[in-house]
Amino acid sequence: MRPILLGALLGLTLLAGAGGLGYWWLGFKAAAIAASTFNVPPDTVAIPSDASAITEGERLAWLHGCHGCHGDSLQGKVFVDEPRVIRLIAPNITQAIRSYDDAEVVRLIRHGVKRNGTAAFAMPSAGFYHLSDADVGRIVAHLRATPVRGDTWPPTEIRLFTKVALVRGEVPTDAGTMDHRAARLGADADTSQVALGRYRASAICSECHGVTLRGQDNAPALVQALGYTLPQFTSLMLDGRARDGRDIGLMGTTARRRFRRLTTREVEGIWNYLRSLPLAAPR
Ligand code: HEC
Ligand code: HEC
Repeated sequence: MRPILLGALLGLTLLAGAGGLGYWWLGFKAAAIAASTFNVPPDTVAIPSDASAITEGERLAWLHGCHGCHGDSLQGKVFVDEPRVIRLIAPNITQAIRSYDDAEVVRLIRHGVKRNGTAAFAMPSAGFYHLSDADVGRIVAHLRATPVRGDTWPPTEIRLFTKVALVRGEVPTDAGTMDHRAARLGADADTSQVALGRYRASAICSECHGVTLRGQDNAPALVQALGYTLPQFTSLMLDGRARDGRDIGLMGTTARRRFRRLTTREVEGIWNYLRSLPLAAPR
């Protein structure tokens, strides 16, 4: 073989080797980052067991999207499946929580920290943080009362682009970014209708519209709500109808599946609360 060819071959082999090594390093590094733990203690609250608390817990779990992401009977589902990005599983809650004690479930909901201390990807816990002890207790009571059903899912598969993003520090989790000691809205002594609206909006609407409600990804700043009269807003919340009849996609389906469970007082409270916010200010 001519020396120049030999050199090229050798170069290619070295490159492939370096590529393989780089890929291995990326996987190793990404796994280490995903495995980092958070020092948040389990969060003890009283878990009720009476039927009315369990029924209210079911309503709250629907409102806060537990069923939206984990499936109608909490049996789990593939939440995102993008080639080269991630196959993210929202696990089967009915099975998963058998290994959790109550304080660990409350920590997972309010702090986004799993039983083993790692962050739960995609759990909107910065909003759930505001759930009061009574409400989070009712949600856990509902989870505990739901019979074990459905399949066991394979673990989440973190793929190339997410590995790169993890290593670059571009995959924020709520556990990693939220303030785990902030004042909790749900513990507020103010029981007015507006305070109820603020409490619900902060834990529910924040999932998509961002913690400041000034918009995030495809969900606009809730300054949008100011153009709605109360009857129009009620129809948006309970039937998923925009005031101009436009198809509002995810917002419409989310309202019809989840927000139709809001009480009149909650809808009015959210409407009034949104009107009291400086929503037009830049994010
Ligand atoms: C936006 C979607 C979304 C919402 C809303 C959501 N979850 Fe999750 N949840 C996930 C995903 C995705 C995971 C997996 C996270 C991971 O593996 O890192 C998860 C993880 C969990 C786990 C951990 C299971 C385990 O394997 O350790 C439990 C329990 C859970 N969620 C309960 C809830 C409850 C209760 C609610 C409602 C208060 C809720 N989730 C709302 C997406 C969601
Ligand atoms: C699961 C995600 C999700 C949640 C939770 C959510 N929204 Fe939305 N919302 C959206 C998206 C996405 C849009 C943009 C829809 C479009 O224009 O296609 C939107 C649009 C809106 C609009 C503008 C409607 C218009 O006329 O263009 C209002 C008002 C609104 N949401 C209010 C709320 C309120 C109040 C809550 C809490 C009770 C909430 N949303 C919770 C995703 C969500």
